Amino acid sequence: SPKVTLRRLRELADAGTPIVMVTAYDFVSGRVAERAGVDMVLVGDSGAQVVLGLPDTTSVTLDEMLMLAKAVRRGVQTPLIVCDLPFGSTERSDEQAVATSVRFVQEAGADAVKLEGANPARLSRLRAIVDAGIPVVGHVGLTPQTATALGGLRAQGRTADDAIRVARDAFAVQDAGAFAVVIEAVPADVVDEIRRALRIPVIGIGAGSADGQVLVQHDLLGITEGRAPVFVKRYAAVGDAMVEAVEAYAREVREGAFPAAEHVYPASAEVAEAVRA
Ligand code: KIV
Ligand code: NA
Repeated sequence: SPKVTLRRLRELADAGTPIVMVTAYDFVSGRVAERAGVDMVLVGDSGAQVVLGLPDTTSVTLDEMLMLAKAVRRGVQTPLIVCDLPFGSTERSDEQAVATSVRFVQEAGADAVKLEGANPARLSRLRAIVDAGIPVVGHVGLTPQTATALGGLRAQGRTADDAIRVARDAFAVQDAGAFAVVIEAVPADVVDEIRRALRIPVIGIGAGSADGQVLVQHDLLGITEGRAPVFVKRYAAVGDAMVEAVEAYAREVREGAFPAAEHVYPASAEVAEAVRA
């Protein structure tokens, strides 16, 4: 199928066809996204926790994100690839934000980048990146990189004042030039109101129906351990299947059942004789 373009995403949104986005962090998860036929792949800084075992998204570095993004790129041809701009890679100046975004495009083959937040500094970064010719996805509502300031990883927009803040943020991000916006962990009816008035597509996570959805691939596959947020649906128990397979392998090695005859190169009596001699 042809490569997904910004125009294609616009068409999907206009037709009311939900946009499907999923995260990927390496070649394997990139291949899964490609083969499953999603529209967009997010190299999320959630990779910090999901594949690097770090405590939070602020712990992952730009170089680490670039490595993940390059691996994803090698596995993905059709979906549009969006890379998260990690904490610390845009804060200093607009110039730093542009330089970082250029690295994602030039070194990792990103089609677009995603920038969290909508305060004046964030909006200035967003505008600068768009002016440099790099498409940007905004991200408002719960923004994990600054979650400490938001009172932790909790739902946003649950009071009238806070819902208005999220709405203002979404419009500000649109006005700054984002081609889409992720809204995370905001009540569905609030997101509906925002969506109705926005021109750009809203990709929701814990935000109701929206114009599209994004989920962490390892959450929906059931690889992530522990309790997932309410907005995660587990479509499989891949983590258990992986552990069971490795357990079966360990058992068979210990019992001498693996390798069996079919996993062994054919014996050559003559060669074995020569080695013995
Ligand atoms: O890093 C991530 O996975 C994300 C999505 C959940 C929106 O930012
Ligand atoms: Na993220």
